[in-house]
Amino acid sequence: MKKNILIANWKMNLDLDESVGLAKYFSENIKDSGVEVVLCPSLNFIDEVGEVLKGKHVGLGAQDVFWEGKGAYTGEAAPEFLKKAGCSYCIVGHSERRKYLNETDEMVNKKVKALLSVMIKPVICIGESLEQREKGLGYVIVEEQLRLILDGVKPVGAQEIIIAYEPVWAISTSGSGRKATPELAEEMNNMIRSILGDLYPADILENNFRLIYGGSTDAENVGDFVKKDDIFGALVGGASLKKNEFLEMIEAIK
Ligand code: PGA
Repeated sequence: MKKNILIANWKMNLDLDESVGLAKYFSENIKDSGVEVVLCPSLNFIDEVGEVLKGKHVGLGAQDVFWEGKGAYTGEAAPEFLKKAGCSYCIVGHSERRKYLNETDEMVNKKVKALLSVMIKPVICIGESLEQREKGLGYVIVEEQLRLILDGVKPVGAQEIIIAYEPVWAISTSGSGRKATPELAEEMNNMIRSILGDLYPADILENNFRLIYGGSTDAENVGDFVKKDDIFGALVGGASLKKNEFLEMIEAIK
């Protein structure tokens, strides 16, 4: 049985003290509820937050990674560094990285392969912009992203890939003021599932993939997203910075 998962993407919102403080609060207040919870702090504080989460019911994730193992790559962090810090998940291809740092699907593809090789689970973000949606290109864009990112990727054994459908326009800080409905997310996830069915045999699809949703989720709406057949949780930005709201989100999808 696939578990529901909530992945907190803190982005660059918290400094060291705030990150450690929030990690302590969550690690003390989140029990083994059947929902997997993962915190993704800024890379600078990954060790400190990892230390707080050791032995607790809350996992550690990173917000990005580089695809090489070692070498002259100024400013980057290797998958093995994340592994040593205790990361079990890593977000890749977030739309903010695509927008501000020109991250491409080809780069995300290399990151996914590098993460799987050290048994870190990639959380792959895909989703269309508002302009693309308004031109009726939502499905085309998501399909293209998915096929490029998964090119040559073959998860085996306990390797798992999480696909987070995150329409760019539905992210709370996107400025569009719009939210996706659970029905829209479900429709897109059905399409994602059928493309995955094209790329992988049924057992891999069942055992090595989980689909989630991201974009303006909160305690009030997350339950409606997760009620949909193929949505096993959420990638959460803004609401993961609010103590009570995030705890209520866990309750809502237990
Ligand atoms: P949001 O962010 O929950 O604040 O919309 C989600 C994300 O960007 O991952």
